[in-house]
Amino acid sequence: MTSTFMEQPQVGLAPVVDIEQLSVKFSSKRGEVTALDNVDLTIPKGEFLSIAGPSGCGKSTLLKVVAGLTQASSGTAKLRDTIVEGPRRDIGYVFQRAALLEWRNVRGNILIQAEMRGMDKAKAANRADMLIAMTGLSGFENAMPHELSGGMQQRVSLCRALLHEPDVLLMDEPFGALDALTRERMNIELHRIWRETGTTVILVTHSVAEAVFLANRVVVMSPRPGRILETINVPLGNDRDYGDTMEHPEFVRIAARVRDLLGATHASD
Ligand SMILES: Nc1ncnc2c1ncn2[C@@H]1O[C@H](COP(=O)(O)OP(=O)(O)O)[C@@H](O)[C@H]1O
Ligand SMILES: [Mg+2]
Repeated sequence: MTSTFMEQPQVGLAPVVDIEQLSVKFSSKRGEVTALDNVDLTIPKGEFLSIAGPSGCGKSTLLKVVAGLTQASSGTAKLRDTIVEGPRRDIGYVFQRAALLEWRNVRGNILIQAEMRGMDKAKAANRADMLIAMTGLSGFENAMPHELSGGMQQRVSLCRALLHEPDVLLMDEPFGALDALTRERMNIELHRIWRETGTTVILVTHSVAEAVFLANRVVVMSPRPGRILETINVPLGNDRDYGDTMEHPEFVRIAARVRDLLGATHASD
């Protein structure tokens, strides 16, 4: 394949994630909670999909089902044609908090992924160096987590999630704890990394701007029980400049639509 293919992931190829009629119910002392209700979602290879929705609508639950960390009550989630039945290691997962090991430096925190998977040491070390450079962490390889800003910590956790070259990356409000400017920079960085790697990304976010800027499609969910209210295409191409995109009439129109849908739920947060 030419490098053009890498730079412009071709959305529309075989689905990598295929969710059919998915419902998830939790039972607790207070009774039964329906977190997800009949969700259908097909995500083609290389797509960047954003999910927005009010708190408690089942966004994290959806990612956890795809990762095999939470069981479906009915319906199925398929990852590359196999039904997810237990924890899947062939994915990358980035959580809201970077969750770094305080006693390990940047490199050590990234390489924990390799140790857990028994990856070839030399290969993992090379890949860690490449990711460190790619995410602008060069020079901080030996820094400890407490010496890093929130944005840098989240970069480390992104490197860790990408170390084993997952072709599916699940991100659960990864930039929620960052200040606005750092978040903007991380958005630009993530967009570039997505284009360079061709990874399929599912991003859960509360930020409408972030959701629309990054995505090929934005899924807006209803309050609990979570259902898909609307799926909106973002026809802005994959070569996006942050400032220009924010002012693009299509961006403005789509962001307003997402806000309307979220506002209509009377549970904005
Ligand atoms: N393990 C669990 N046990 C019981 N209830 C849960 C569990 N996980 C999530 N829930 C409930 O399911 C609903 C959806 O949760 P979640 O997926 O975390 O929402 P979101 O990520 O959109 O904020 C919430 O009401 C939450 O309290
Ligand atoms: Mg959540």
